[in-house]
This record gives sequence, C-alpha cells and structure tokens, in this order.
Amino acid sequence: MAAANPLRDPEDRRLPRIAGPCGMVLFGVTGDLSRKKVVPAVYDLANRGLLPPGFSLIGYARRDWADQDFAQIVHDSVKQHARTEFREEVWNQLSEGLRFVQGDFDDDVAFDTLRRTIEELDQARGTGGNYAFYLAIPPSFFGAVVGQLQEHKLAQPPADAWRRVVVEKPFGHDLESARVLNDTLDGVFPPESVFRIDHYLGKETVQNILAMRFANNMFEPVWNGNYVDHVQITMAEDIGIGGRAGYYDGIGAARDVIQNHLLQLMALVAMEEPTSFDADSLRLEKQKVLSSTTLPRRLDLSTARGQYVEGWSGGEKVQGFLDEEGIKKSSTTETFAAITVNIETRRWAGVPFYLRHGKRLGRRVTEVAIIFKRAPHLPFSVTSTEELTQNALVVRVQPDEGMTLRFGSKVPGTTMEIRDVNMDFAYGGSFTEASPEAYERLILDVLLGDPPLFPRHEEVELSWKILDPVLDHWARKGRPDRYPAGTWGPPSADAMLARDGRTWRRP
Ligand code: BG6
Repeated sequence: MAAANPLRDPEDRRLPRIAGPCGMVLFGVTGDLSRKKVVPAVYDLANRGLLPPGFSLIGYARRDWADQDFAQIVHDSVKQHARTEFREEVWNQLSEGLRFVQGDFDDDVAFDTLRRTIEELDQARGTGGNYAFYLAIPPSFFGAVVGQLQEHKLAQPPADAWRRVVVEKPFGHDLESARVLNDTLDGVFPPESVFRIDHYLGKETVQNILAMRFANNMFEPVWNGNYVDHVQITMAEDIGIGGRAGYYDGIGAARDVIQNHLLQLMALVAMEEPTSFDADSLRLEKQKVLSSTTLPRRLDLSTARGQYVEGWSGGEKVQGFLDEEGIKKSSTTETFAAITVNIETRRWAGVPFYLRHGKRLGRRVTEVAIIFKRAPHLPFSVTSTEELTQNALVVRVQPDEGMTLRFGSKVPGTTMEIRDVNMDFAYGGSFTEASPEAYERLILDVLLGDPPLFPRHEEVELSWKILDPVLDHWARKGRPDRYPAGTWGPPSADAMLARDGRTWRRP
C-alpha cells in the first residue's frame, strides 16, 4: 500500500470540486432567469470541467417544442450569455444530454413522460437517478409542481441516489405566505434537499466578507459599536424594470431585494464568528443577527420609498415607472426603498444599519460601507482637518470588485493640511483568475449537495418579520415619493439620514 502523502490534506478545499453523476430538470425554461443565468452557468460549469460527462438537462415548459428546439434555445442562450468561451466539443457533449418535456404544471401525462425521460437518461447517460428540480417559475406554481413531483414518485430518490429541489426568490410576499410556501416544500422534500437561491451569496465578493473578517486580525477589534458609527448597504441599479412588469408590479424594491440580498449581506457583516463554515454553523450565526434586528419606532422617519419618473440614464431620456409597459397607471409599487435597522446585541447596540436599493439610480453599484467614528481627539487646528471625513472601509461588491479603506493623510506641503485618501484592493490587480458567476457556484453546490450558501427557511421567515411592519406602514400611506430616473432616490431618503446627522454615500 502506498504511504499516505503527509503533505496532502484530504480536506483540502482548494481541490476542484466536481459533481458526481447527475442531471437537472429546469421548469420555466423560457423565462429570463433560465436563459440569462441558469443555462449559461450550466454551460460554464461544463466548460470548466466541473460537471460529470453524462450530465443531462431536461427542459419542462408549455411550448410545443421538440428536443431540437430546446437545444437551439439552450445554444442561443449559451452563445449570448455564457461567461466562458464557446467550445464545440463542450457543447457537443452537453447537447447530447438535452431533452424537452412539454406540459402544464398540473399535467399528469407530462409528469409521467418526465419520469420516463429521467429513467431513459439514467440508462443512456449514467445519471444514476440523481436529479435537481430547478423551479425557475413564479412561486404561485411551486405547489402544483412539487405536488406533481411527489405524486409521480419523482421527489423520492431511488436507493443510493438523491433528489433536490431548487427555488428562487421571492419566497412569499410576507411572513405568512412564506410560511405557507415553506410548508409546501417541506411537505414533499426533506429540509436538507431544499435549496433556496439567494444569488448574492454566490458572489465572490460577498463570500469574501467572511474571509476578510475572519482570516485577518486587524478588522475584528474595531468591528463593533465602539469604533463603528454606522453601516450603509447600497444596491443601486441604473436599469429600470425592463420586461419584468408582470413580476415587479406589486412586489417592489423592498420585497425584491431588501428582504433577501441586503438582509443577507447585513447578516454576514454583523454576525459573530461561526464555529466552522459548515451550513449549520453559518446559518445559525446569520439567524442570530436576523432575530436581533429591530426597526426604529417611527417608521415615517426611518424609512423612505420612491418611484422613478421620467429622467436620464446613460445619456438617454428614459420613461417613468408608470409609463413602463405592463405597469398600471395607479401602481403604488416602489422602485426605491431605504430602511434603518438596529441590531440589538452588545456588538452593535447604537449602530444603525441603513439599507437602500433602487432602480434607475445614478449608476450600478453594490457596496457595503462601514463608516467609523471620528477620532476622539484631533490635535490639529480646525482648518487643517476641514476636508477630513470619517474613516471608512468599503466592500465593493460590484462592479469594480474590491475593497477601499478611506483614511486621513497629510497633503504634501509646508502646512499641516489633512485630507481623505483611499487605499485600494482590486480583484483584477491581485488575481489573474476571473470570478465565476454566482449561478455557477450555486448550481455546482446544489449538484454537490453543499448547503452553506443557501438560506434556510428560518432566515427567510426572520427577514419577513423584519420587513413586514415597514410594508404595512407603506401600504397605509398610499403613493410613494417620486424621483427622476438617473438620480439617487427621493429627497425623503436624504432626509431620513439627515435626521441622524448623516449623509448617504454617492458611490
Ligand atoms: C434580482 C432582482 O434578485 O437581482 C432584480 O430580482 C435585480 O430586480 C437583480 O435586478 C440584480 O442582480 P445583480 O447580480 O445584477 O446585482
């Protein structure tokens, strides 16, 4: 027997993790999410050699398509949206495993066909009965689909195989509907087989928050209310709602983004060190943050919401939200939302977290800014420090991924003048490898059965508990404020911070 190599750690997480024999069934193949994100990510994984050779993808939709029509759609979406280059040999291998099943979500005959198709692929391509069912469909259909999967014995894995279900947000539209949705899923799949996608957790820069905090010694000592003044989490988009009126109207900025992406970002920034990075430890720490999160009493003063009206974006005139195709003229859906939350723990007491998201803002940027308190004493004249602001650590989630540390420095010259300077880390400058797309990481994790990056239903429910009172408050107030496209939201958002003596960053 060969001697074990003492230098090789069997737990070495740097070794590529490759999915074992398996396939995926994609419901909602004609939607934007499938075409722009899921399908290209599957190809990128295949191209990076991370999928098994017999990997198979079954599309399920109402369209009257043959396998070849589906293959053409997959081909076009790969060509248009894949991150990695198109290689014939990868495509040829992947396309041999493409199948299409036509049917409604409650169609018994179609689900029988789906079962036979899986059995056929198990034989022909060695998928081993291991399948993920990806529901890229509106949540109102989740119940019908998982019910059919159960009825047609697709949810229960054959011996030594696995079956998993993947769902996308919105996980409900409030706490109550989220609970109903969770019950529906839990009634069919065991909790460890349910993968809820919050694609922000698949982003490299988001995972790096944990690396930055827990692999270094210099941040943690100042990571608390003794040093931190407040935290701003911003996800700004310059795009409008595009062709997504059907999804967006009635949902709005807070449900679409704050309930999930921004509260998850906040949990990563605020949580205690987990005992390990396994799913249970990580989720437990995030959950503790979410259950300690409270809203200020006066929601009229500590929140803001807006709807974009006609304005400018990228040098072009763009229409207002109410003029977008498919939006009701009377819509009160907000396209900008900002909330203040407090985390009632020893670490964060007295440190407000400001969360904001909007469409048609000045530019596309997502960042987490930790703004530090001023030095307790400045041994300089007031005029020397006129241009010195507060120290800040900014995690640049996207674009221009990296981190910035802002601090004061002497301006060269014969007088003592102190001004802000930035120290910068840019992914492009430090790493040669491009970051994978969030969906590549998350789909691979589903196929590997690796759950840390998927929020558990407790987190989803806690996030609704935080947001529901804000949504109720807004619902009672009628119309949102307005802001011209291309600006940074309504004046009420600025007023909300001004009341606390602070201003929003203009990234
Ligand atoms: C989605 C939202 O979850 O995230 C969209 O539903 C938003 O409204 C999108 O545009 C933004 O994702 P990203 O990765 O481009 O920041």
